[in-house]
Amino acid sequence: MILKGKKGIILGALDTKSIAWKVAELAHAEGAEFILSNAPIALRMGTINELAAKTNSEVIACDVSLDEDMNNLIDAAVAKYGKLDFVLHSIGMSLNVRKKNPYTDLNYDFMHKTFDISAISFHRLMQTLMKKDAMNEWGSILGLTYIASQRVFPDYNEMAEAKSLLESFARSFGYHYGVSKKVRVNTISQSPTMTTAGSGVGGFDAFYTYADKMSPLGNASAEACAQYCISLFSDYTRYVTMQNLYHDGGFSFTGISGDVMEMVAKAGE
Ligand SMILES: NC(=O)c1ccc[n+]([C@@H]2O[C@H](COP(=O)([O-])OP(=O)(O)OC[C@H]3O[C@@H](n4cnc5c(N)ncnc54)[C@H](O)[C@@H]3O)[C@@H](O)[C@H]2O)c1
Repeated sequence: MILKGKKGIILGALDTKSIAWKVAELAHAEGAEFILSNAPIALRMGTINELAAKTNSEVIACDVSLDEDMNNLIDAAVAKYGKLDFVLHSIGMSLNVRKKNPYTDLNYDFMHKTFDISAISFHRLMQTLMKKDAMNEWGSILGLTYIASQRVFPDYNEMAEAKSLLESFARSFGYHYGVSKKVRVNTISQSPTMTTAGSGVGGFDAFYTYADKMSPLGNASAEACAQYCISLFSDYTRYVTMQNLYHDGGFSFTGISGDVMEMVAKAGE
């Protein structure tokens, strides 16, 4: 029960495969209370009410690209709990990826929307929390990212830039929130994971298998990611802030693995 007594908000649980779904289940098991949030359309299409019933949580709609929705969400959370201890931003969406536009022929209106939903919303979330003085000291705010922010993965398309921006907001806002309120802010860079957002990336199956073969520990699952999130919401990680934390079975620091060498050798036979 390492989150006993802690209150928070979990944004981005769409269905049972969602990373945020696994975080909510585990946070509940570890004694936390929280509000679940997602975009209005996702609330209509997804199965979040099942999760709400299971975790005894309230669901509040919020399109994270809208100031008004964000204000309402934070006001509702503070009205319910007082100050918060943890917030998870588990949100990503690219209109250009959805429309299968190639990286060298992108629609800029779509790109703005992608950055707004996938990255600027992280700033919007933290700015709203800060303005409303909604976080307890030593609270923890987490975003989820992917290594395409730092290295080139061509099929990740404009989401690469969205994730670079997200990670930068964690560093910069982490500084300001640390100084003013002792709140910590981090991003977790997760292995490819079989979810709705993940599978939307072109060639995802090959992507997934390659990462699995490259990682000494194999791909980290959504359940394992949830465990890492819980540790970062707990009091055992109070001095971890402004970091991009790899949770990828060792992928990020592996040049080449025996398995991949074998695959390449076989392909050349
Ligand atoms: N799946 C992967 O391979 C992988 C790897 C690394 C990082 N991530 C990141 O993990 C996070 C969670 O994704 P997931 O893989 O669990 O997929 P998911 O599809 O289950 O979750 C993405 C969520 O974003 C929400 N969303 C989209 N637009 C929104 C809006 N305007 N307002 C509010 N919510 C909105 C969706 O409704 C959905 O719940 C994302 O940031 C994603 O980029 C995923």
